[in-house]
Amino acid sequence: MANLHSYFIFSLILLPYSMSSSPNYTFPQKHFIDCGSHSSVSVSGITNTTFSSDTKYDSRHSHSVNDPVLSGLYGTARVFSKSSGYELSTEENGVYMVRLHFFPFSNLFDAKFDVLASGFLILSNYSVPKNVTYPVIKEFLLPVNGPNLKIDFRPSQESSFAFVNAIEAYVTPQDFIPESASYVTPQGNSNIAKKALSLGVLTVIHRINVGGPKIIPENDTMRRNWLPDDDYLYIKDTAKKLATYTYGPKYDLEGGSTQFDAPPFVYKTAKEMNRDDVTPSNNFFNITWLFGVNKDATFFVRLHFCDIVSKRRNSTVFNVYIYGLFGQPIVQSSPELVTPFYVDFVVDSDGSGFMNISVGPPSDSVDRNAFLNGVEIMELINAKGKGQAKNRLLIIIGSTVGGVVLVFVSVVVILFCLKSRKLKPVESVDGPMVNVYAGSSTIRSSTNLEMNLGLKIPLAEISYATHNFDPKFMIGEGGFGKVYKGSLHNGVKVAVKRSEPGDGQGIMEFQTEIMLLSKIRHQHLVSLIGYCDERNEMILVYEFMEKGTLREHLYSSKEDVSKSSSRSELSWDQRLQICIGAAKGLHYLHTGLSEPIIHRDIKSTNILLDEFYVAKVADFGLSKSGSIDETHMVTDVKGSFGYLDPEYVNTMQLTQKSDVYSFGVVLLEVLCARPAVDNLLPRNQMNLAEWGLSRMKKKQLEKIIDPLLAGKINPTTLRKFGETAEKCLREDGSDRPSMADVLWDLNYALSLQHPGKPQEFHEDSTNTDVSWQMALPGIHRLPSIDVSTSCVRASESEVFSQLKIDEAR
Ligand SMILES: *[C@@H]1O[C@H](CO)[C@@H](O)[C@H](O)[C@H]1NC(C)=O
Ligand SMILES: *[C@@H]1O[C@H](CO)[C@@H](O)[C@H](O)[C@H]1NC(C)=O
Ligand SMILES: *[C@@H]1O[C@H](CO)[C@@H](O)[C@H](O)[C@H]1NC(C)=O
Ligand SMILES: *[C@@H]1O[C@H](CO)[C@@H](O)[C@H](O)[C@H]1NC(C)=O
Ligand SMILES: *[C@@H]1O[C@H](CO)[C@@H](O)[C@H](O)[C@H]1NC(C)=O
Ligand SMILES: *[C@@H]1O[C@H](CO)[C@@H](O)[C@H](O)[C@H]1NC(C)=O
Ligand SMILES: *[C@@H]1O[C@H](CO)[C@@H](O)[C@H](O)[C@H]1NC(C)=O
Ligand SMILES: *[C@@H]1O[C@H](CO)[C@@H](O)[C@H](O)[C@H]1NC(C)=O
Repeated sequence: MANLHSYFIFSLILLPYSMSSSPNYTFPQKHFIDCGSHSSVSVSGITNTTFSSDTKYDSRHSHSVNDPVLSGLYGTARVFSKSSGYELSTEENGVYMVRLHFFPFSNLFDAKFDVLASGFLILSNYSVPKNVTYPVIKEFLLPVNGPNLKIDFRPSQESSFAFVNAIEAYVTPQDFIPESASYVTPQGNSNIAKKALSLGVLTVIHRINVGGPKIIPENDTMRRNWLPDDDYLYIKDTAKKLATYTYGPKYDLEGGSTQFDAPPFVYKTAKEMNRDDVTPSNNFFNITWLFGVNKDATFFVRLHFCDIVSKRRNSTVFNVYIYGLFGQPIVQSSPELVTPFYVDFVVDSDGSGFMNISVGPPSDSVDRNAFLNGVEIMELINAKGKGQAKNRLLIIIGSTVGGVVLVFVSVVVILFCLKSRKLKPVESVDGPMVNVYAGSSTIRSSTNLEMNLGLKIPLAEISYATHNFDPKFMIGEGGFGKVYKGSLHNGVKVAVKRSEPGDGQGIMEFQTEIMLLSKIRHQHLVSLIGYCDERNEMILVYEFMEKGTLREHLYSSKEDVSKSSSRSELSWDQRLQICIGAAKGLHYLHTGLSEPIIHRDIKSTNILLDEFYVAKVADFGLSKSGSIDETHMVTDVKGSFGYLDPEYVNTMQLTQKSDVYSFGVVLLEVLCARPAVDNLLPRNQMNLAEWGLSRMKKKQLEKIIDPLLAGKINPTTLRKFGETAEKCLREDGSDRPSMADVLWDLNYALSLQHPGKPQEFHEDSTNTDVSWQMALPGIHRLPSIDVSTSCVRASESEVFSQLKIDEAR
């Protein structure tokens, strides 16, 4: 038994977490596809690419066509008469560059279609403009996690087909797109971005080689197109080209770019202030470029710099302005002069349809110059949902808050007291800017909705189940919107979580939850039965948990706290079993998957009970998955007040130990039957964790336990249980036990409660860790079944193989 205990510890220590350091990158040879062609086309250049024939993809729903005149890449195309596409193998997870080439001939102009990649709708109702005289290349950066990347073409209703001439899809270097960047609004506000960039899809709008020539794919390290900037200059005379620097930029220096970030031509050319025509007194001005962008959208902006101007290091110091209000000094961090580097921003556009970007010297500048080498503007698509979760405390803090936890916490307490229901996110907006490109966090999350198309449930079925979202069937109103109880056609009871348009959780959290839950099957984790994203709905369908939340059984909710005191129905044994079950679920999240998952929002309302009071952990909307090492930083703190790991708030380091802390709070909640924070109580009792710890120090834990448990807990069990909670709540995450240890301790506490009765100390073998992926191939071969006859069985692992797919294949 004890050996098993140490086994858990070892497996935790030895688990090889992948480090954030970038592995060596070479430009991938896959996938370059000449669609509809029987032969391959070689393109020489820096990357020497071969576009290969796609005839092996031939299927019933597609055929190839060719133009009698054009040859090469654009002389052929593949035409899809039904939803169909490519399944490309992906050796590596990460952000993929996907380029779709369209150059219609003959009747291909009539095509109108959607394109889905990796589950994201990247082109919607798309048709190539009738007057194009050059190929249209649509470029996307999207996260891929899983063995393949599917690119599907779906003819729109008004059209009978879709087409494509060529496809490129390859993995970009690690951290090519940061997790987040300085976030700028048109009003000039900025903070550390809360946009999960690497989770969404970016589509390239502008890629500009300032002061230099057009760069074609053959001359770029990543086959990109770069255009000259002249047409974007607001006042032509304000800028002039610098002489092309003849020695290459110094790539790969600390804090600098690599050749894959931008090719030498971008960094070897630039524009600087044109001060020849102006009088010395008039030597201060800005150079401004105006770029056409969509109104009211969010953009990822990367500005490239390489100081080929200055004679000495650090002599040209200048500011960059976005929308004329937000400004940031540009300082090269490398000691070498011609170091290429870039600075990233996340920018919300204003309603003008333009984004203006300026560079100019500060008033105390000596050299009175400013320059710019390159600009990339990408639009964040599939990333609506700016609204934050309702009734769930989301705290977003900028760099200023740093270590000032005390201030921070008291601010939150005040806010909490003022407005306990609808809390707005707390944002720090006026902190100093940090050069985010040097300090971005690298937790990689992954989204792969494509994997889960089989989980899609038609809106009609959900309307049926919930009697068209009848308020009578509403069983809760959570952070995500409203929760309804329902019953599918086959009689299976489900819980339906429906996001309120505008104020629900974001599409990111929606996708995260689908992605995570569909991969996870565990006895102590709430199963996702399906989802629905029809008509902009964000609906998640779960197995119905008959007995509701753990909290309901411990004490009454905030609203009626004055009316009745605690009204627990749970015996101590039941409570222990519930804690053990939840601990198992959490332990599985932390260690049972190829990539550990941190729940981030463990609390008594996220532990649900089924009809037999078996505990299951729910609500993964805030979860972070991915390779996480101890040094990873996150840029926003999320979680629920009272359960938040103070170390996490303080250091912004997210580890599994943050969940352990929250679980410690739940243990006290179970024992004392009171909320984690109760601001009706005297100050020293308000926070349960603090109160519990202070009582334990005085060896008075038994004085604060749920009166209903008085005399029912064996003193040694109570001591063990209290010890376990105390360990979970230790200040220093490294002093806290792992969930494996917690589980062992709780089992031990249970055994102490029943001396003489043999207990099992190992993980039970009844867990059904059926990997969703394993079931997938079978599902995709299933024909489409009519909704009313399709059956969803909630219990067994066969649930998923029975789920119908409404997407005809
Ligand atoms: C990366 O390349 C450098 C030399 O270019 C080499 O020393 C190093 O071992 C390589 N690292 C990996 C992980 O391959
Ligand atoms: C590309 O091909 C040309 C000619 O075949 C060759 O000289 C060159 O070295 C190749 N470049 C790379 C990067 O492989
Ligand atoms: C697609 O575009 C056409 C016009 O180009 C429009 O009539 C139609 O409603 C659009 N369909 C969708 C689903 O947006
Ligand atoms: C094609 O037509 C659109 C307007 O319909 C126009 O804005 C665009 O400039 C034209 N493109 C070319 C290449 O002529
Ligand atoms: C590609 O780069 C070479 C120099 O490396 C240059 O001579 C050539 O003109 C470039 N091609 C184009 C089309 O810009
Ligand atoms: C840039 O945009 C800001 C905000 O819309 C505006 O105030 C400013 O005049 C613009 N600058 C130029 C040069 O258009
Ligand atoms: C450049 O633009 C910024 C923002 O609009 C402004 O504050 C600054 O004074 C301008 N600089 C000069 C030299 O005009
Ligand atoms: C350049 O100047 C900035 C501030 O203006 C300073 O922080 C930085 O250390 C300087 N770098 C070098 C290499 O002198």
